Amino acid sequence: MKHTITLIPGDGIGPEVTSAVVRIIEASGVEVEWETHYAGAQALEKFGNTLPDDLLESIKRNRVALKGPITTPIGKGFTSVNVGLRKALDLYANLRPVRALPNVPSRYPELDLVVVRENTEDLYSGIEHIVVPGVVESIKIITEKASTRVSLFAFEYARREGRKKVTAVHKANIMKLSDGLFLDCFRRVAENYPEIQADDKIVDNACMQLVMRPEQFDIMLLENLYGDIVSDLCAGLIGGLGLVPGANIGEQGAVFEAVHGSAPDIAGQGIANPTALLQSGILMLRHLGERDAAQRIESAMLKVFEDGRVRTRDIGGTAKTMEFAEAIIAAMQEEQRATA
Ligand code: NAI
Repeated sequence: MKHTITLIPGDGIGPEVTSAVVRIIEASGVEVEWETHYAGAQALEKFGNTLPDDLLESIKRNRVALKGPITTPIGKGFTSVNVGLRKALDLYANLRPVRALPNVPSRYPELDLVVVRENTEDLYSGIEHIVVPGVVESIKIITEKASTRVSLFAFEYARREGRKKVTAVHKANIMKLSDGLFLDCFRRVAENYPEIQADDKIVDNACMQLVMRPEQFDIMLLENLYGDIVSDLCAGLIGGLGLVPGANIGEQGAVFEAVHGSAPDIAGQGIANPTALLQSGILMLRHLGERDAAQRIESAMLKVFEDGRVRTRDIGGTAKTMEFAEAIIAAMQEEQRATA
């Protein structure tokens, strides 16, 4: 089956890592027609809008996009395109699998967990006001609808990917109504998935446990703010943000992207590490039901890491972006020949 996928190359190193990933996906045998669209500064220059309607229509039509990082100007200019995309398409679940890679320095070389973060509400609703000078109120919104749908997402993901446990992380001992509602929704959804263990932890304890015994977690489910913080903490446990994939998923579509930014300091040199976007591409292929191709790419990628000879500069090697991509393609082809 041929897939049509919206491709947003992005800024800085974005076009370099996306073209490497496109090459690897195409070499895996999956048939893809890419619809390339621009966002951010590039789109503003061409179409007068950082999130052109054509781009949003393309994602709604194809229901899936692969996206490179987009530069957000600091303190001036347009607001984050990433936040804009999440809002425009109601991408309510943020998915971040965190798994250590062979031969990459990591505090927990065996770690393999998944963070699912609610993406649309909580303290990120942006409802803040000055009550009287010197006193500011920031409002935390938690709804039954958002808490239930993200819980459903976490359990469905667990079932599809053969994961054993979902842990809700909260502060319902203090925020009895808001986090209490989140936890109630989680527990109600959990009843429909008896084969998956469901438990919960208070967020401060969960952070300590993550640092001391992270292997006890499988899937963690969190509200927006806790999820934002804990997902970066988890990336740190396996060596940092540079290697970790991510996805923002909703009913109208799913956008797969690396967690890192556009890295202007190394852009244009062809030395960026495409691993994070490649792992996002692997997630995307699984989302599309292309599980065999996803597995082939993942095995080849792990083989290249295990072998350790072709590594990009950020993890101590000298390989260029495309050399690393070619090594993965060669490993994939070798595997195909061996099993033919
Ligand atoms: P950054 O992630 O772009 O860079 C931080 C450091 O990590 C830099 O030294 C960079 O060279 C390195 N790095 C990042 N990705 C790498 C890769 N694939 N291979 C090798 N080295 C890599 O973070 P920074 O500098 O804070 O942000 C730069 C721009 O990216 C900003 O405009 C920011 O708004 C944007 N950004 C966009 C994101 C997105 O579109 N999802 C996410 C985060 C930041």
